[in-house]
Amino acid sequence: MKARVLLVASEAVPLAKTGGLADVITSLARALRERGVDATVMIPGYPSAIEQACGLKEIGALPALPGGAGRLLHGTMSDCGVPVVLLQTAAFDRRAANPYVDHEGNEYPDNALCFGALAHAAVAICAGETALPAPHVVHANDWHAGLIPTLLKLRGIEGVGTLLTIHNLAFQGNFPMETAAALQIPPELLTPEGLEFWGKLSFLKAGLLHADRISTVSRTYANEILTPRFGHGMEGLLNAARERLLAIRNGVDLTAWDAESDTLIARPFSFADMRGKSSCKRDLQTLFQLPIDPFAPILAIGSRITHQKMADVAVASLPQVLRAHPRAQVVVLGRGDKAYEAGFRLLASQFPDRVAVHIGYDERRAHALHAGADMLLHGSRFEPFGLTPLYSMRYGTVPIASRVGGMADTIADAGLHGTPDAGANGILFDGDACEDMTRAVSRAFELYAQPVVWHALQRQAMAADFSWAEPAQQYIDAYRDIAADAAKPCFVEPVAEPVAEVAASEAATACDEPLQYMTA
Ligand code: ADP
Ligand code: GLC
Repeated sequence: MKARVLLVASEAVPLAKTGGLADVITSLARALRERGVDATVMIPGYPSAIEQACGLKEIGALPALPGGAGRLLHGTMSDCGVPVVLLQTAAFDRRAANPYVDHEGNEYPDNALCFGALAHAAVAICAGETALPAPHVVHANDWHAGLIPTLLKLRGIEGVGTLLTIHNLAFQGNFPMETAAALQIPPELLTPEGLEFWGKLSFLKAGLLHADRISTVSRTYANEILTPRFGHGMEGLLNAARERLLAIRNGVDLTAWDAESDTLIARPFSFADMRGKSSCKRDLQTLFQLPIDPFAPILAIGSRITHQKMADVAVASLPQVLRAHPRAQVVVLGRGDKAYEAGFRLLASQFPDRVAVHIGYDERRAHALHAGADMLLHGSRFEPFGLTPLYSMRYGTVPIASRVGGMADTIADAGLHGTPDAGANGILFDGDACEDMTRAVSRAFELYAQPVVWHALQRQAMAADFSWAEPAQQYIDAYRDIAADAAKPCFVEPVAEPVAEVAASEAATACDEPLQYMTA
């Protein structure tokens, strides 16, 4: 029998996406399935998800979820065939492209009930109350799925192990205590030793307390979250849970982000033949209505426009960058806090032929940006992993990024002395002052002015290997341990499917290095 894992999250490409979580859920599920794990993704049944999923069939009616009735639909992802379960409720029916906040950027008032319902529905699957067999392990992601381990314990459901992955500790799902009754959380759990966090009921804290294992998405972030600077108030709890804390880095979907086969870019290219990159630069300038200039260095920003992503620092730093580098063009794609969006728009009006800003969420533009730019500016005050710089590297677009979290692990800095180290593939900087960012950008421009050096950086960037082979195997190892602890004798070694022969040999290498529990 195959190992069954239910991956529960709030988003998964292509059905719903606001950030990297969506990419990770689907590509991890695919990587697991290629390695013989029966992985199913479960997300809310937003209208966009129901529209895009294939072959949906009802597998269970759940009349008494928080907030009302719901039904579970089972089908597959339209592009990759990964099985998916969607929870349809009246509240999720009303969610638009961003499922967490309304058009004004305000959180929906019923988020607690909606995502509480998602957790209850996942637990109903674990209890065997639907047509889907119960999983051996529930892999809960972020606060949206944080109540699952607690609810499993409350209902006394045995034999289903739990892993909670933290993709971003800044989002904790802390809600008024009064929501507890509707969420079917008993009052005795609402204590400081329990689910109470600074006077609120915390979904993430619930997960951290009761999950069999906790993981996060890079080694550096796993260490950072144990400290007050990055712990968002949960560092004490995490330190207490250290024996259960794992670091498993994310992988990149190498087929979706591939300079040689990407159908969303103007012309494919590879390091051996970079001519296509010039066409992609022209395409980017056209899309963003900038003057067509093959010699203008393009500095791109493509991310959520938020405080986490140092949007404030970028807005304040860019005028100086533009003055120091008179030929440079800046392209910004993103969506987020209104004040920062306005800051970027103002910049575009002040530098009309040099700065172009698209406020919105646009997959085609994201690919065009990664392929056509020369440099990607990705400042972050904290970054659990950071997929965006790795995507840009796949197109020879050199990242200039903060030395935090996953970016400290995946980007090798070019150094300060003109000639980059052999393995360098980008530029890292510390701090969140304007000078920190402008100095890093200046370093990039100095290197850009030396074509041989720049090409070496591009080569390294394009050659970086962040596939799912190693992390998928680490998750499988973790699931095996979790299931063994949950005393589920039917969990057996996953059997690799024929398509995964190559991957299975890579996985064997990963197996030689057992995942270590955090000890420091
Ligand atoms: P985070 O998850 O914190 O936002 P990541 O870098 O890990 O950061 O992942 C961000 C993902 O969201 C990437 O796939 C990126 O391309 C995508 N993305 C962010 N903003 C936009 C946007 N405005 N349009 C299209 N894709 C976007
Ligand atoms: C979060 C993090 C980001 C990470 C992504 C996927 O949104 O902010 O760093 O890459 O999740 O794990």
